[in-house]
Amino acid sequence: MTRIALVGVGFMGKTHLGVYDALDGVEVTALCDVRPAQMDLASAEPSGNIEVAASGSTLPDAKRYADYEELLGAGGFDAVDVCLPTYLHADYSIRALDAGYHVFCEKPMALCGDEASRVIEAVERSGRLFQVGQCLRFWPAYVEMKRIIDEGDYGATRAASFTRLSNTPRWSWDNWILDPDRSGSAALDLHIHDVDMVRWLFGDPSAVRSRGIIDNGGVSHIATDYAYDSGLLVQATGGWICSDSFGFRMQAMIILERATLELDSTGEHMLVVHPSDGEAAPAALDARDGFYYELSSFTAGVSSGKLSEALTPEDAAAAVRMCRAEIESVETGREIRT
Ligand SMILES: NC(=O)c1ccc[n+]([C@@H]2O[C@H](COP(=O)([O-])OP(=O)(O)OC[C@H]3O[C@@H](n4cnc5c(N)ncnc54)[C@H](O)[C@@H]3O)[C@@H](O)[C@H]2O)c1
Repeated sequence: MTRIALVGVGFMGKTHLGVYDALDGVEVTALCDVRPAQMDLASAEPSGNIEVAASGSTLPDAKRYADYEELLGAGGFDAVDVCLPTYLHADYSIRALDAGYHVFCEKPMALCGDEASRVIEAVERSGRLFQVGQCLRFWPAYVEMKRIIDEGDYGATRAASFTRLSNTPRWSWDNWILDPDRSGSAALDLHIHDVDMVRWLFGDPSAVRSRGIIDNGGVSHIATDYAYDSGLLVQATGGWICSDSFGFRMQAMIILERATLELDSTGEHMLVVHPSDGEAAPAALDARDGFYYELSSFTAGVSSGKLSEALTPEDAAAAVRMCRAEIESVETGREIRT
């Protein structure tokens, strides 16, 4: 049995509880939140911009803590799942690692590259396992898109574009997400998923050039060109200034030499392959989402002592650094070498 302590029982925390409920061999033995009412699972559903499964279990046997140090001191679990506001990720992850626990931390890994480096030092010092919630690396449609690109049956990639748009997130505790000092703005909070995809699918670009819209001191909408010496054209746009009736959607378009791949979270089929010589066809995908697969992978890794290599702590740190380079590009109007 892999025993989890979940910290931060908000939108993502409840999403993770829904996954743990569905996983065999995993038990949530402790919860921690500064708002005790959040840990009354009988009353609350997840609220946010993504449709997710709520936990069916009210976890009557899980211990409840309002204080993190008390939780770490009490023990009774193998891993800590950090679902806290972003400005707490690095510090809370380091404290759990140094206390001897494995850690799953929601994305982004940290607010900046220096903080991410301190977490990696703690991972090395502690010898514990550490995984970040860059969930697209485990999301069936994105995993299939990478498989098609890598196998090369439709030739090389010529151009790729990624879009991630949302209505404004007004549901977070203390409105932390709309405070750029605590969330890093939409560029770090939302767009980081596509930044991670760009790196995963095509490797590091040589430079980024971004333009953005700044609201309340943070980048609320960003559009970036990624420079590749090969001539590959890659762009990504993300932001949270859409209307409430629009909701949330993620999309990608990959133009290969002999096919175009179209991914749309709101489409009838999430991934469609449009070949040059034939009819468009939906890709066969598992119905479960990336949250399920990332946590199933993490808990299996804790049980076996080795995590999947699909996503390393260094990958998660690199995504944070690239988002920061893009924010710098927005603020200075310059291309930033990466
Ligand atoms: N992977 C994804 O697609 C995805 C989607 C949404 C959010 N997230 C990430 O998940 C993290 C949490 O976001 P959220 O939307 O769940 O936020 P939220 O505001 O809904 O939840 C945060 C919870 O943390 C609690 N909290 C705050 N300070 C605390 C402390 N010091 N100790 C214990 N509890 C504390 C709050 O009471 C709240 O219940 C963020 O980093 C966000 O970027 C990831």
